[in-house]
Amino acid sequence: CRETVSNYCQEVRQLGFRLEELISESLGLEKDHIRNVLGDQGQHMAVNFYPPCPQPELTYGLPSHTDPNALTILLQDQLVAGLQVLKDGKWIAVNPHPDAFVINIGDQIQALSNGRYMSVWHRAITNTKTARLSVASFLCPEDDALISSPQELAGRDGSSGAIYRGFTYTEYYEKFWSRNLDQEHCLELFKMNTIE
Ligand code: OGA
Ligand code: NI
Repeated sequence: CRETVSNYCQEVRQLGFRLEELISESLGLEKDHIRNVLGDQGQHMAVNFYPPCPQPELTYGLPSHTDPNALTILLQDQLVAGLQVLKDGKWIAVNPHPDAFVINIGDQIQALSNGRYMSVWHRAITNTKTARLSVASFLCPEDDALISSPQELAGRDGSSGAIYRGFTYTEYYEKFWSRNLDQEHCLELFKMNTIE
């Protein structure tokens, strides 16, 4: 019912904020750094329903992608597996765990962290027998948020400098939707020293 969903959204949001704080600290930044950069974060929820598929080898439930937002909190179907992530060039099944969420780093945290955290390539497969349901909650920067990696992560100390140029989330978003989804990774378009 409405109240349950509303509570869920609020709790998931708080969890996302805590994770952003912990990620900031793990990068040696102020605890609030990521939250400050992302501003008043948008939150979207997708309820994905994957019906049984007579020939799962011919199609994906969801083709390979990275999430274009900041952070995704995914509640998997507890009974039916289907999520896979790309690790070291291989697709690995992420089977559901009781009482556990799957957390995806999205493109914005990859850019913000200057590539120290990488957005994960993932996809969903189907099966012939059982429908599958998942609930994804996406935390997104506010439209005007300026996404750029802080000095501490982008060099000074002889490392290679910023990988990506600064951009607003709106700018990213517009690029993202103006391409075909099977084209190169959208973040590639924001690399330093690339000519468009
Ligand atoms: C998504 C997603 C995976 C799943 O909604 O972006 O990756 O298991 N979902 O449904
Ligand atoms: Ni996804």
